[in-house]
Amino acid sequence: MVKTHSLFTCGECGQEAHKWLGRCPACGSWNSFVEERIQSAPPGLRKKLIRAPLRLGDIEAQSVARIRTSVSELDRVLGGGIVPGSLVLVGGEPGIGKSTLLLQVLGNLCRDHRVMLVSGEESPAQVRLRADRLLQDVGAVEVLAETDVDASLAAIREAQPELVVVDSVQTLYSSDLSAVPGSVSQVREAAGRFMRLAKEEDIPVFLVGHVTKEGILAGPRVLEHMVDTVLQFEGDRNLTYRILRSVKNRFGSTNEIGVFEMTGTGLETVDDPSALFLEEGERSSGSAILAALEGSRALLIEVQALVAGSGLAYPKLVGTGIDRGRLAMIVAVLGRRAGLNLAASDVFVNVAGGMRVEEPAADLAVALAIASALRDSPMRGRTACFGELSLTGELRFSVGAERRLDEAAKMGIDAMIMPAKNAGSLGRGKLPAALLEAGNISAALALAFS
Ligand code: TYD
Ligand code: MG
Repeated sequence: MVKTHSLFTCGECGQEAHKWLGRCPACGSWNSFVEERIQSAPPGLRKKLIRAPLRLGDIEAQSVARIRTSVSELDRVLGGGIVPGSLVLVGGEPGIGKSTLLLQVLGNLCRDHRVMLVSGEESPAQVRLRADRLLQDVGAVEVLAETDVDASLAAIREAQPELVVVDSVQTLYSSDLSAVPGSVSQVREAAGRFMRLAKEEDIPVFLVGHVTKEGILAGPRVLEHMVDTVLQFEGDRNLTYRILRSVKNRFGSTNEIGVFEMTGTGLETVDDPSALFLEEGERSSGSAILAALEGSRALLIEVQALVAGSGLAYPKLVGTGIDRGRLAMIVAVLGRRAGLNLAASDVFVNVAGGMRVEEPAADLAVALAIASALRDSPMRGRTACFGELSLTGELRFSVGAERRLDEAAKMGIDAMIMPAKNAGSLGRGKLPAALLEAGNISAALALAFS
């Protein structure tokens, strides 16, 4: 007999409970629990599969032939192209360009490969309309307007395409579950079945997943551990350029980024992102240039700060594109280790161009931008920096110094303020004219405003 029971799932993070809860104990969202009916097959019906383990040494190493998409930035983020049989989740806010990018990929590949778009979101006519704006000829792309998981899986098994794009996973539903499309259990079920398809048929599948306003892969977030690769589209919808970041990748390194520009004819790859993130002209006060490392790629990013006297009992600390906890720590270190009193000031920090910096080596740029804003004097000309601050005010060793210096030199930076601990290990690559080594934040401040 098939047993049915209820399960309550948080729509934001996928936390499960046996009764309804007003507030999710895991992510803290209110009113996010929805009831889902789960059917479990009786024990006798479950298939028993016994497999003998293999010794690692006996397993034949396979060299995977990756499929190049001809979108260079996407190939780089994927780790060199699409791996056959892989399941890739592409997340991002509505309107950021997920459908556009994937249609371009399908367009590039349809000349030499059989490719299929499972479209639950847009009708074939709408897809055609979008395709007409793109420069490529996408005529050979097969479009399947289907939201039933089993029907689309059957069509794919029949056609045996070499790439499948599902747009979006939230529109799919399986009639085996009574939950509505887009609910956590439906999304998880659909992804699970596509995972099986990808592995069994060796067909790579891209799943598009929408992200909520909080900027997390809600719904799809519960899929992150299932899929092989998670790519996230970031950036401001109002700006023209977009960043595609690999958050997880079983077939390549993570935190790799690709930069795109949205044009009238689709997304174009940006080969020189440093030029994009650096605003032109003279630096004013409150600005510092970070020599950042995103994955394997170095780029220059401008960090801006504004310090204003606060009339509030609890002054504001606002960071855009930077973690707030990190920002609070940097302000505290500036106060205690460098004597910069910010206790009565509102501090705003912004990473230019809608970029997000997560690496600790961004600390020094944030600190110098704040110091420059507080003093109301610009930093010395054509200078970039990197370095992680410890709570004692020391500058820690940062990875990838050579790549950062090389990129800075290429972009016409004359001087780099960097951790003294990084000084010994430099060799290859171009270098800026001056390497200004600092052991701690006070020394870095002295160099920056000399
Ligand atoms: P879209 O790819 O549909 O985003 P998503 O699938 O992530 O929701 O659309 C991205 C936006 O870009 C949309 O507002 C229209 C715009 N756009 C262009 O500017 N140029 C183009 O060539 C295309 C196809 C879309
Ligand atoms: Mg879309």
